[in-house]
This record gives sequence, structure tokens and C-alpha cells, in this order.
Amino acid sequence: MKLHCFFSSIMILLLSVPYPVSANRSNQAGFLQCLSLRLNDSNIVSRVIHTPNDSYFSSFLASSIQNQRFSTPDTPKPVLILTPVQPFDVQSAVKCARRYGIHIRTRSGGHDYEGLSYVTHKPFVIIDLRNLRSITIDIDNRSVWVQTGATIGELYFEIGQKNPTLGFPAGVCPTVGVGGHFSGGGYGTLLRKHGLAADHVIDARVVDARGRVLERREMGEDFFWAIRGGGGSSFCVVLSWKIGLINVPSTVTVFNVTKFSEQSALNIIHRWQYVSDKVSDDLFIRVMLQRYKNMVRASFPGLYLGPVRNLLRLVNREFPELGLEKEDCKEMSWIESVVWFAELGEEPIDVLRKRTRASLAFKAKSDFVQEPMPEVVISKLWRRLQEPEAELGQLIFTPFGGKMSEIADYETPFPHREGNIYEIQYLNYWRRGEEKEKYMRWVERVYDEMSEFVARSPRGAYINLRDLDLGKYVGVRKSKYEEGKSWGVKYFKNNFERLVRVKTSVDPFDFFCDEQSIPTFRSVEVI
Ligand SMILES: Cc1cc2nc3c(=O)[nH]c(=O)nc-3n(C[C@H](O)[C@H](O)[C@H](O)COP(=O)(O)OP(=O)(O)OC[C@H]3O[C@@H](n4cnc5c(N)ncnc54)[C@H](O)[C@@H]3O)c2cc1C
Ligand SMILES: *[C@@H]1O[C@H](CO)[C@@H](O)[C@H](O)[C@H]1NC(C)=O
Ligand SMILES: *[C@@H]1O[C@H](CO)[C@@H](O)[C@H](O)[C@H]1NC(C)=O
Ligand SMILES: *[C@@H]1O[C@H](CO)[C@@H](O)[C@H](O)[C@H]1NC(C)=O
Ligand SMILES: *[C@@H]1O[C@H](CO)[C@@H](O)[C@H](O)[C@H]1NC(C)=O
Ligand SMILES: *[C@@H]1O[C@H](CO)[C@@H](O)[C@H](O)[C@H]1NC(C)=O
Repeated sequence: MKLHCFFSSIMILLLSVPYPVSANRSNQAGFLQCLSLRLNDSNIVSRVIHTPNDSYFSSFLASSIQNQRFSTPDTPKPVLILTPVQPFDVQSAVKCARRYGIHIRTRSGGHDYEGLSYVTHKPFVIIDLRNLRSITIDIDNRSVWVQTGATIGELYFEIGQKNPTLGFPAGVCPTVGVGGHFSGGGYGTLLRKHGLAADHVIDARVVDARGRVLERREMGEDFFWAIRGGGGSSFCVVLSWKIGLINVPSTVTVFNVTKFSEQSALNIIHRWQYVSDKVSDDLFIRVMLQRYKNMVRASFPGLYLGPVRNLLRLVNREFPELGLEKEDCKEMSWIESVVWFAELGEEPIDVLRKRTRASLAFKAKSDFVQEPMPEVVISKLWRRLQEPEAELGQLIFTPFGGKMSEIADYETPFPHREGNIYEIQYLNYWRRGEEKEKYMRWVERVYDEMSEFVARSPRGAYINLRDLDLGKYVGVRKSKYEEGKSWGVKYFKNNFERLVRVKTSVDPFDFFCDEQSIPTFRSVEVI
């Protein structure tokens, strides 16, 4: 029996298998032949299968690498890239991969923080969904079927074209793919009002480990629950999501207050911790700390779902410390605010359809804050940002509360709901070609220093900001279940066990797997 994933030899003991598994070792030639036969048309074969012999192979691979940490010469490369043009091709890829012991990675937008959709240290094939990106909007029902190769920018754009008072609550960066993003939760400026992208998924079409296409009705509610926040790599290939749209007002207001002086910034941030999650959920104010030349500066970009006069009244009453002035504010449509928040300035709306962006190498980690931090701790972060290796460092505080607190922590796999004031993201970037170590160490140091001020036991983390420092399968001493649990509870808390149950029932042989995917229970039962 070919073992698809890392160290789980215990599975060898399972003899009654519900579907045939090849007795051969990974057989690439067999896989290619199987696939070509199934695709059954030379035109489709050449559109779907790309080998390193194709002159464009490396640029194809690179085109959606969104973290340049994984585009170095020694980064492992896939043996093939497949770009399905129809759902049948994905089914064929899964069936042939299983039969010939091929390890696959699914890539939608390629934003995985640890590159797991396109990097691993054993032979693998990428299923890249870039050709499957239709977006079908049903305005009367306020719903959309969006294929997973689409980006959130393309989705926002199409919604905005159809109706300026409909929107969708997902992330800020338009090139992020709906495939990975919705699979892990997904949030942006509308999270306080509307929660996560995954909270608005009402159906899905997936290819399961047996190569079958299933919709919600066929996959059952547990499976459907798991794919809305349990992370992309453990259960299936999602072909498309059906989402429900939300209402947005015809006029929203954006603003961006910037402070250079440490003391005034610290005062505002300190106070922000008491206000940002409790104020009206029409108001979203982020904190961004980063360097500008040699100085650290704090900015407070915000979105208000209404006109500027209401915003000013609200902020003067609830958060006068921010010192928000009319001149800091700009009224616009919601879709324009999406462009503004993506820092694409005055560009026309269709910039949202652009699928590529300039990217650097980076490392990030995340935390959830449940009690306001003392001002001295914030001041310590400020000083960390003054260090030489933090020239491109960034700390982002995203407020929760509102809808995030109304949804129970077991309703979706994303457990970081009520009781969390805000999420912190620690990021550091560096330029291509630079040695990464000191920049990565900076992130680790800041993260270590924060341990006593953030959610503990378990310390939380957001699966979409994937962090392999939390652990990965190595297969020594412990079962895969025990290994996976050690970081699984950080991402999913009490939902981890249910995710393992779903995994065990829908993918018992761990076909869909990566360095941090959900394990099955089997390895435990046998021990
Ligand atoms: C610049 C940048 C900005 C970001 N901004 C935000 C933000 O504002 N809010 C937020 O919540 N997150 C944000 N993220 C994080 C982002 O949500 C995650 O990285 C997300 O997983 C990316 O999805 P993707 O499809 O682009 O990535 P990919 O790398 O393609 O996929 C990520 C994971 O999902 C799996 N996957 C992808 N497609 C599928 C599919 N169709 N079926 C099954 N599994 C699949 C992959 O195998 C991989 O494990 C940002 C990331 C970056 C790099
Ligand atoms: C296994 O390998 C043998 C010999 O290489 C080959 O004849 C057979 O078709 C293979 N079976 C599968 C299922 O790949
Ligand atoms: C494959 O090709 C054969 C012969 O051209 C045809 O009869 C068959 O329907 C095709 N199968 C598929 C799935 O397209
Ligand atoms: C690439 O080309 C070489 C030489 O022509 C050939 O032997 C090999 O099979 C090809 N590889 C693939 C994956 O097609
Ligand atoms: C849209 O909604 C109506 C009424 O709720 C329903 O009858 C119809 O089937 C829906 N259409 C789709 C495509 O979901
Ligand atoms: C807000 O201002 C800061 C500092 O000037 C800038 O770096 C950031 O890009 C701005 N944010 C937005 C969303 O425009």
C-alpha cells in the first residue's frame, strides 16, 4: 500500500479498505498515462498538464507564489502542474493520483503563509485551479456560485458591478483566492458587522478523496461544517462555493488617522483596546504599526458603514481620543472602499480583477487578545519596531466583537469568537536574496515576549495565517493524531476533535494531507 502522507505506517494494519489503493510506489509515468487516458482529448491534455519540460513551467509556478520566501532556487518544485478546465479533470486527477500514489497539493490563490499549496519536501503534483473561476450571481436570491480559482477581488468586482448595495465580508487583499481563504474562515473590514466569509457559505461543490463530486446535500452536515473553516488541505478539493451576499449602504466612509509621536499613539492604542470591539458594529478601526524611514508610526485605518456626519458623531462620543476630523474622512461606495483598503489608491474599480501583485518574502504569526494590554507592553512593541531588522516589520491589530461574538465558537471550525477583543498579526518582510534568519528571528522574539498578554491555554492562532513553528508532522515517537493535536487545538480549540472525526470518515487514508493537515483517529485506535 502506498502511503500518501508522512509518517502513518500504522495505516498498513488497516486491511479492509473501502476503495482500491495501489500496491505500487509513487508512479509518475503511470499517473500521467492514467490522466491522459481519462482526459481523452489531446487538446484538453495540453491545456491541463504542464511538465518541467514546458518552457513556461517556472513562470507558471511562480505566478501565484505570494511569499517569495518560497521562490528560492533550493525551494522544492512540483513534478507536474495541472490546471483543470472542468470539474471532471479534478476528479480524474484525484482518482489517478490515488491509484498511482501521487501526492497532490491544491492551489487556488497561492497565499498560504507557509507556501503549503505549492511546496513540500517530497515529490508532488499541484492542482492549480486558475482556470476554474466562473462567478455566477443570482441577484434575486442574493447568492453567488463562485469557483475556487477566483480571487476575492474578482468576486468583489462582480458583485459591485451587479448591485452597489450588495457586498461580501471577506479579506482585504484582492489577490487572495476564495479556495484557501473561505476554507480557513476569511475576514476583513466587515467582520464586526457580518463575521467571516465562511459564515456566509451556504453550499459547496467538492471532489472528495474517492473522486466523487458532492454538494452539501450529498456530503452531509459534518463534512460541510468542516470545510467552512477547518483549513483547505484536509478534506477534499473544493470546486465552488455558494455564498449569501449581505447588504451594504450606498455610502460608506473610510478614514486613516496617522500618528508619529509614540506617546500620542500609545494613548490611542491603549484606549482603542476598550472601544474597538464594543462600539457599534458599523465601525471597524484597525491599528497598524510600522516603520516609515527610521521612525515608527501608527495608523488607524477605518471603515464606517454610513455617512461621515454619523461617523463623526459616533467617534466624538465613543472614542474622542482618536482625534478624528472631517478632513481624515472620505465618503464612497462600498466597492470603492474595497479598493481604498487594499491601498490601491485612486485606481479604477477593475484593478480588483488583477490577479498578480508584487510580493516580498515574509514570516508571520498570530495571536488573540482577551484582556487589554498594559501601555508598557504596547510601548515595548513600538521599540521592537525600531530595531534594524524591523525595517519592513508590521504589527496589525484587527478588532473583533459584534457579529464575531454572536456566532457560537462551535458553529464553524473557527473558534476564536466571543471573549476575543482583537487579533494581532506580527509580520516581517525582507527583500529577495537577503538572508532570512534575522528577520524570522525578530518575529519569533516579539511573539515570545507577548505570550503572557495574549490568549493562553491554548494560545490561539488563525489557520489562514499558517505558522509552521507551531509544529508539523515529523513522525517520531508520537502518533500522527497526537502530533496534529498539539497545533490543532491552537487553530481550532474544542473543534479539533470534531474535525478529526470528519477527517476519519471522509478521508480515512489521509489522501488530502500536508505538514499541518487534520489527522485521522485511526493511528490512535491501532496503538
Ligand atoms: C497578502 C496577503 C493578504 C491576506 N489578507 C488576508 C485578509 O485580509 N484576511 C484573511 O482572513 N486572510 C488574509 N490572508 C490569508 C489568506 O486568507 C490565506 O493565506 C488563505 O488560505 C489564502 O487562500 P489562497 O487560495 O490564496 O491560498 P492557497 O495557497 O492557494 O491555499 C491555501 C490553503 O488552502 C488550500 N486550498 C486552496 N484552494 C483549495 C481548494 N479549492 N480546495 C481545497 N483546498 C484548497 C491549499 O492547499 C492550502 O492549504 C492574506 C494572505 C496574504 C498573503
Ligand atoms: C504496478 O506496477 C506494475 C509493474 O510496474 C504494473 O504492471 C501495474 O500496472 C501497476 N499497477 C498499478 C495499479 O499501477
Ligand atoms: C473518449 O473518447 C472516445 C473515443 O473518441 C469516446 O467514445 C468517449 O466518449 C470519450 N470519453 C469521454 C469521457 O470523453
Ligand atoms: C521531458 O523530456 C525528456 C527528454 O525529452 C523526457 O525523457 C521526459 O520523459 C520528459 N518529461 C516529462 C515529464 O514529460
Ligand atoms: C431562488 O429563490 C426562490 C425563492 O426562494 C426559489 O424558488 C428558487 O429556487 C431560488 N433559485 C435558486 C437558483 O436558488
Ligand atoms: C494609512 O496610512 C499609513 C501611514 O501613512 C499608510 O502606510 C497606509 O497605507 C494607509 N492605509 C490605508 C488603508 O490607506
